[in-house]
Amino acid sequence: MEISEKLRREITAQNETFPRLRSGLVPALYRVYQARGEICSGAVDELSEIFEMSPDEIRSVLELSNILGSPRRGRHQVKVCVGGSCLRDGAGEFLEALSRRIGIPVGGIGDDGRIELGEEVCFGTCVAAPLMWVGNDFYEDLDLDDAERILEALE
Ligand code: FES
Repeated sequence: MEISEKLRREITAQNETFPRLRSGLVPALYRVYQARGEICSGAVDELSEIFEMSPDEIRSVLELSNILGSPRRGRHQVKVCVGGSCLRDGAGEFLEALSRRIGIPVGGIGDDGRIELGEEVCFGTCVAAPLMWVGNDFYEDLDLDDAERILEALE
């Protein structure tokens, strides 16, 4: 088993917060990646069972996302969604402003190695921009003050 029972329970609990099962796939991919440092073919097979999708469909989502192209460098990976819906709701401006405020360029890592700031295209919750993924947690409908507080609290 590639995905632990604990992680499976977390994914299931998170899926219950989404209107459709498939909406939870990208967050689940991040959780698996965060826990294992990779998404192997066994994990793809298990995710295909959880999400009632074929392994090829799971791999297609992986290829479209930045997950595999994001080796963990900072202690905390922070991603802001810049998918179409979120961009229309100001996510691009939010990400630029957040980058300026915390002094980390998009795609870069802070001098202390604590935070890596990046972007992602669609987490599946397209009505809640700006939206930020931090480790295993998602934060929705953010403003800059909230985002800064969340990042400051990271160890
Ligand atoms: S476009 Fe941002 S969550 Fe879908």
